[in-house]
Amino acid sequence: MLPLFLCQSLYLGIVTLPRSYIFSFKERAKMITVSVCVGSSCHLKGAYEIIRICEELIEELGLKNQIELKGNFCLGRCTEDGVTVMVDEEILSGVSPQNFKQVFEEKVLKKLEEGSADGSN
Ligand code: FES
Repeated sequence: MLPLFLCQSLYLGIVTLPRSYIFSFKERAKMITVSVCVGSSCHLKGAYEIIRICEELIEELGLKNQIELKGNFCLGRCTEDGVTVMVDEEILSGVSPQNFKQVFEEKVLKKLEEGSADGSN
């Protein structure tokens, strides 16, 4: 049995997709990747706490379809202060559980806003 939207499309002689398909495609197109280094040095500086905070922010702000959270092994910045975090291709050093919310707002949310404003990303 054909889904209802296909039956209507065939009857009308046009092919359309339901709005939910179009919206989910758009949301996937705006995906931002946040990678938190979980190498030994970053682990000791609070990487897992940052991951927990990031998961909470994603859940709280309803951004599950727009942000992919990953763990990364050493990004080669162990000697710098804080945890190393990547937002797409940008590497950020000096991230801590104390400043992560600010980093998230300035780097991740701002990037999402820019992407939705110009229709890209
Ligand atoms: S362990 Fe994180 S940058 Fe090396």
